[in-house]
Amino acid sequence: MIILGIESSCDDTSAAVVRDGLLLSNVIASQRVHEAYGGVVPELASRAHQQNIVPVVHEAIRQAGIDKGDLSAIAFTRGPGLPGSLHVGCSFAKGLALALDIPLVDVNHLHGHVLAHFIRETADQLVPTFPFLCLLVSGGNSQIILVKSPREMEILGRTIDDAAGEAFDKCAKVMGLPYPGGPVIDRLAAEGNANRFKFSKPRIPGLDYSFSGLKTSFLYTLRDNIKLNPDFIEQNKANLAASLQKTIVDILMDKFAKAVKQTGVSTIAIAGGVSANSAVRAAVADYARRHRLSAFIPKPVFTTDNAAMVAIAGMFKCQAGEYCDITAPPFSRVTV
Ligand code: KG4
Repeated sequence: MIILGIESSCDDTSAAVVRDGLLLSNVIASQRVHEAYGGVVPELASRAHQQNIVPVVHEAIRQAGIDKGDLSAIAFTRGPGLPGSLHVGCSFAKGLALALDIPLVDVNHLHGHVLAHFIRETADQLVPTFPFLCLLVSGGNSQIILVKSPREMEILGRTIDDAAGEAFDKCAKVMGLPYPGGPVIDRLAAEGNANRFKFSKPRIPGLDYSFSGLKTSFLYTLRDNIKLNPDFIEQNKANLAASLQKTIVDILMDKFAKAVKQTGVSTIAIAGGVSANSAVRAAVADYARRHRLSAFIPKPVFTTDNAAMVAIAGMFKCQAGEYCDITAPPFSRVTV
């Protein structure tokens, strides 16, 4: 079974080829055009997808060493994401599937992130056993998901306001750092004292997250200190980054650990853009070691949006015979 995956939900155009679960290629064209605006501009994202999609798919097929006639099915991200961006991948996948007369498979982007752990680059690579608990943290989502099978996922907790990635990006923005702020904070934090500043943590029941209070307390810290010292941010960049990162990690791990205890799982995983964060990765690995759990921490390239995860999620659906109708429209909002 050879599957072409297509991802275009936000600002990365990506295509990947998977043969019987083994990754043959994964091509990603990231869009630099948004950097000047401090965030993704939806109209510019769809235009860039239009420009990128044909060469990216060509390159994925070329690198895989196959011919497009060898494809068994095409999997594409149907949602959630930016409507205009999704339309580009969705329409392209439909056109190619029609032309090649092969089945079409729609993939939920969030399922893709979770199932990224099943991307095999070598035949002997270990993958999680079900059920496992996945902390999905990205620019748009923060969820604790009990993964019972490739098709059965239960959300045990989610953010009630901002996502973890938004907390990184918005706080970085008020510090005057470039977009996306998450990786910049991560780099700066390595040189700072994480205990220098204290920011507020949410006190909400259950397994849900909240990051808006942290954002406000970060903002107040900057405002109060800048009044006394206009160079406060410049002089405290690394300490602010380290303290912010530590607070986000503490918030994430508090509920995740609670969920592990409640479910009694023996395998945990992280996924999504924020799972590239060095402190998040270290905290999850450390927790797993202390509690004798297996931990799956994705390679950085599979944390952000990529088509390899779409192809793998599509493979599971193909195996279950779940195909998608040619008339299926993309959806911009949905949870697992
Ligand atoms: O999953 P993703 O690529 O995109 C969507 O949410 O659609 O995640 C992007 C998010 C951004 O908020 C970015 O700042 C964050 O992931 N991110 C990081 C790191 N790398 C990416 N946050 C903290 N530390 C990082 N190293």
